[in-house]
Amino acid sequence: MQTFTEIVTLREQIKLHKREGRSIAFVPTMGNLHEGHLTLMRKARELADVVIVSIFVNPMQFERSDDLNNYPRTLEDDLNKLTNDGIDMVFTPTPEVIYPNGTDKQSFIDVPGLSNILEGASRPGHFRGVATVVTKLFNIVQPDIACFGEKDFQQLAVIRKMTQDLAMDIEIIGVPTVREMDGLAMSSRNNLLTIDERQRAPVLARTMRWISSAMRGGRNDYASIIEDASDQLRAAELQPDEIFIRDSNTLGMVTAETNQAVILMSAFLGQARLIDNQVVELTIDTHEEHPTESASENAD
Ligand code: PAF
Repeated sequence: MQTFTEIVTLREQIKLHKREGRSIAFVPTMGNLHEGHLTLMRKARELADVVIVSIFVNPMQFERSDDLNNYPRTLEDDLNKLTNDGIDMVFTPTPEVIYPNGTDKQSFIDVPGLSNILEGASRPGHFRGVATVVTKLFNIVQPDIACFGEKDFQQLAVIRKMTQDLAMDIEIIGVPTVREMDGLAMSSRNNLLTIDERQRAPVLARTMRWISSAMRGGRNDYASIIEDASDQLRAAELQPDEIFIRDSNTLGMVTAETNQAVILMSAFLGQARLIDNQVVELTIDTHEEHPTESASENAD
């Protein structure tokens, strides 16, 4: 495995591969790699000749400096995992390499309609930071395909729209969420949990499954479903952050035309903000009454 910290040397190597006609798959990460990331990389391996991974904790997508500083950084361990997983190249730039003039003077990408709603409304600038760094990494790596986890549902929607809007010739592959045995979605942020918090964390996924089965059972009183779900989280001492039930294609409100909804959830547990999502197929019955806006649905 070749490791690069500079853009020029990485580009030279990528050009060699391209000249030989090899296809390139890219997996951007912020490190602290777990089975979820390794699944993205295995998918990338299946789909292309050369797999390139980036590890970069992107300051532009953190609104709070304590969150940026607390983000787990485990570069040595990560590199070992990548070597064992047969990755061809890894790019580990410093913030100065990616943002030589600082993040404030950096040109940026906003994805209208998606960057500022839902999680984007409560984390202003977050999706601008994600879209900007992903564009910059795409321009450096020039991949044929790029793999992202479906766990970050809104991020994936932002990236898909951005690549379409800007005519980027890159196929975006969404890879299903990988879960622990008890249902908790794998995330680097799980490392911030104490032993006791870790035991309570699966309540998020359990509550999400409860919402999903209520919806599939025909309930469409989304406001009260969300209230009940928030109570379930509080009972396990998780602090509900946001719970949304949206159209999975538009991320707008569920309407009579919606045939697939998505439950988007986040909750605080100790130092960690956990997120999860689940897609729910809607049948004709679930549309009999129209859903109402809930208190936690007013973020956008
Ligand atoms: O999902 C992540 O780890 C990050 O948001 C990404 C896509 C690597 C951009 O920094």
